[in-house]
Amino acid sequence: MRTTKSIDGQVSVIGLGAMGIALAEAFLKDGYKTTVWNRSSEKANGLIKQGAIRASNLSEAVSASPAIIVCVLNYQVVQDLLYPLGSMLSGKVLINLTNGTPGEARELAAWAAEQRAMYLDGGIMAVPPMIGKPESLVLYSGSQDAFQMQQQLLSSLGTSKYLGQDSGMASLYDLSLLSSMYGMFAGFLQAAALVGSAQVKASEFTPLIIDWVAAMLHTLPDLARQIDSGNYRDKVVSNLGMQSVAFVNILRASQEQGIGTDLMVPLKILMDKGVEMGHSADDISSLIRLVRNPSI
Ligand SMILES: NC(=O)c1ccc[n+]([C@@H]2O[C@H](COP(=O)([O-])OP(=O)(O)OC[C@H]3O[C@@H](n4cnc5c(N)ncnc54)[C@H](OP(=O)(O)O)[C@@H]3O)[C@@H](O)[C@H]2O)c1
Repeated sequence: MRTTKSIDGQVSVIGLGAMGIALAEAFLKDGYKTTVWNRSSEKANGLIKQGAIRASNLSEAVSASPAIIVCVLNYQVVQDLLYPLGSMLSGKVLINLTNGTPGEARELAAWAAEQRAMYLDGGIMAVPPMIGKPESLVLYSGSQDAFQMQQQLLSSLGTSKYLGQDSGMASLYDLSLLSSMYGMFAGFLQAAALVGSAQVKASEFTPLIIDWVAAMLHTLPDLARQIDSGNYRDKVVSNLGMQSVAFVNILRASQEQGIGTDLMVPLKILMDKGVEMGHSADDISSLIRLVRNPSI
């Protein structure tokens, strides 16, 4: 808990959706003088009760603090909100935690540089209730000076990881991690629908999924090594040829049970292509060639 509130102990949070509120609460909890602004101003009410200061407009929010945190729906909204403010951001540290692409982050960084603002892009690898806890990982890239200046402030949000001066890197890491999460969600939905077709409750089956996925996570370092070396036959225990035959049974069983196959078909297409290309004896890691270059 911070006890002193120096000039550096001030932060403005723009965007008070589920995530922005959690960010502002974490700063308030650590004693920062926190100014907040949201399009729908009533969302600030709970934070005001906790000691936040309500900015009556965006300019007021930006002038209030040296560090400006932005967390809104997407980059279009970030641009719509910030671009009209222009040079008001001069001398500020702009920390954008809105989800977007590396290209969008680099474009915003270039604009911020024109306004003489320091820019840090961030990717939040956490859901709002995790914010402030060590397991909340926030990735940053962009101005190293900005990161160093605001490191203590940012530590209120959880664990910080700085990925270098290319502003696009935080987003690239963020979206790559989200890709692995959505792959898991896709498999989970298929599994729940498959067992559900025999009236097995998802909550009854899920502990088995958790144990199975946890066991299979241990295969990832081997697959990663194969991807990095390009040697997809290194210590293969489940070759692609075998996997592609077994995988068809997921599709066939889904059809038999009257459920959809849309989530699984794209992987089947890649597996078939991989086998056609001669990767039968390789591991599933060999499919990276098709993911990297879909026109093969
Ligand atoms: N929630 C999560 O689990 C999570 C996790 C990691 C990252 N994120 C990222 O954090 C960002 C915010 O997520 P969230 O969960 O806070 O979303 P949310 O609850 O849907 O809130 C969206 C925010 O964007 C604002 N907004 C949307 N359209 C706007 C517009 N045209 N003009 C001005 N403000 C606008 C909303 O203002 P109003 O209140 O006025 O609508 C609100 O403050 C997103 O980029 C999201 O991908 C979220």
